[in-house]
Amino acid sequence: MCGITGYIGYREAYPIIINGLKRLEYRGYDSAGVMLYDGKEIQLSKTKGKVSDLEEITNKEPERKKGNIGIGHTRWATHGVPNNVNSHPHISKSGNLVIVHNGIIENYDTLRKELISRGYTFKSDTDSEVLINLIEEVKTQENCKLGQAVQLALNNVIGAYSITVFDKTKPNELVVARLGSPIAIGVGENNKEFFIASDASPFIEYTKDAIYLEDEELAIIKIDKGIKVRKIKDDSMVDTHIQKLKLSLDQIEKGGYDHFMLKEIHEQPKAIIDTYRGRMLPNEGIIRMSGIDNHINKFLNAERIIIVACGTSWHAGLVGEYLIEDKARIPVEVEYASEFRYRNPIITSKDVVIAISQSGETADTLAAIKLAKSKGAFVFGICNVVGSSIARETHAGAYTHAGPEIGVASTKAFTTQITVLALISLKLASKKGEISKSELRTFMQEMQLIPKKIESLLKVDNKVKEIAAVYKEATNCLYLGRGFNFPVALEGALKLKEISYIHAEGYPAAEMKHGPIALIDENMPIFVIATRKGHYEKVVSNIQEIKSRSGKIIAIVTEGDTQVKEIADHVIEIPETVEALTPLLTTIPFQLLSYHIAVMLDKNVDQPRNLAKSVTVE
Ligand code: M6R
Repeated sequence: MCGITGYIGYREAYPIIINGLKRLEYRGYDSAGVMLYDGKEIQLSKTKGKVSDLEEITNKEPERKKGNIGIGHTRWATHGVPNNVNSHPHISKSGNLVIVHNGIIENYDTLRKELISRGYTFKSDTDSEVLINLIEEVKTQENCKLGQAVQLALNNVIGAYSITVFDKTKPNELVVARLGSPIAIGVGENNKEFFIASDASPFIEYTKDAIYLEDEELAIIKIDKGIKVRKIKDDSMVDTHIQKLKLSLDQIEKGGYDHFMLKEIHEQPKAIIDTYRGRMLPNEGIIRMSGIDNHINKFLNAERIIIVACGTSWHAGLVGEYLIEDKARIPVEVEYASEFRYRNPIITSKDVVIAISQSGETADTLAAIKLAKSKGAFVFGICNVVGSSIARETHAGAYTHAGPEIGVASTKAFTTQITVLALISLKLASKKGEISKSELRTFMQEMQLIPKKIESLLKVDNKVKEIAAVYKEATNCLYLGRGFNFPVALEGALKLKEISYIHAEGYPAAEMKHGPIALIDENMPIFVIATRKGHYEKVVSNIQEIKSRSGKIIAIVTEGDTQVKEIADHVIEIPETVEALTPLLTTIPFQLLSYHIAVMLDKNVDQPRNLAKSVTVE
């Protein structure tokens, strides 16, 4: 949460920082700010609102845009409401030190009181303003350089951070540090310029060389002199490793679509192919996943698999539970990472934990991994973002290769996570002898047909739009599914809630009679997954129960269905596939539906209120 950018070099820093902030806005967008140093003065501009609001301010006063060094921030509020004062950057008491911060300083209140007793005053309610003043206090007391002051101050801090700090008295350097929140440093040619950002997207057009700081590392960046990285705790030097970025500009642009979410919905056929490419060899009846192959005994000897995740990734985890239990016959439990990490769970070295996360930065999932590791479990990660904290923290893993997902509402992350989980279930099933070669081959061939089927399914867009127009004013909706499609019902409801702000609940269809049925009246739209394979007759009975109570039924059915068509108010047909893979298809109309409703309601589809793409605070 929160996005950080920075630049130090020979170019005008402002456009790099502002454009970078726009690319990082998915991380938080309740306020934005920028600091530029023009060689004489610090120019601080910040405001509640989006980066575009910040631009309006700076456009009125061009002198605010001058300088070859600067830092910027886009915020997702933790301490202090979103307002101009709480926006970053924050400046120290002397007016010399400036900080942008992503994360939470948990002991900020104690530190703040200590600083107040030493004569400091605070303008904002933020923990970040406390941190910059703590750095200033240390620098004054110790009479040391900025890098050392930051290091000493951070040793007194409890919490998580990625920070960039500027010192007006030494304007040729920036100090960057991280613990628990990601930060990348782009290295320009001949060390003549450096870019700092929460992810590499802000500097991708300037350099493909990047250094990702590890936790508890601090970098001092000086023009011409380059980067020196040291450990915050023991001051030891770290050998920096420059990575070649594979990210390209078109991957992080809208490519002609109105919104990233729509682009990402349409990218799913390709994303799924990229996920299984090289991993499925149907002719040989082999699934290749090095992360599993290299640790196969851990999986085969596992007494159970525990899947930990949050949000959409948790829903994918539920599909994973159905897949792995059904195919590989290994007991699976699926846990919200936020509950798992605090409920003193029983974990042993006989457990395999699978952590799922698109961003690879979700704080609760990361903490759940650390807990599982401390208890001796083997931890396998399923992440999309290469090199992310979760990818690094796990013993082994598999990337989804979905490409950057920028819309806050996850779409291609969900389907590619399910794809990886399907591959894992088949791999384990075949290793355990639970599936024959020919069954495995048939399943893989079905999987290879999924991208084309999604492509044809995306053509129902107009029909979904019509349905969206009918139900866009609904205040409550119910999503029902059974078996493999129960998690899809949960995911459908989540998509509608997060971007349309319409209350929606997902339920296993048969649970409806145990409570939610009381909600049904003639105004209640109920979205039901009634595909032919998957308890069809039972779901039809559930639909009848809704009909008798005058609920509006929008059903997702298999092509050629006649029975549900007669009862439902609207039907959307999906192509036939094996039951275990239906979630990859049934979820598509729900994604489109919530997208269209949000657009019709004039909501901010890619940046819904109160949310952020990666939840790096607990
Ligand atoms: O990056 P992660 O997959 O760990 O994120 C988990 C959730 O925060 C995320 O899925 C969230 O629920 C999305 N906004 C859902 O669309």
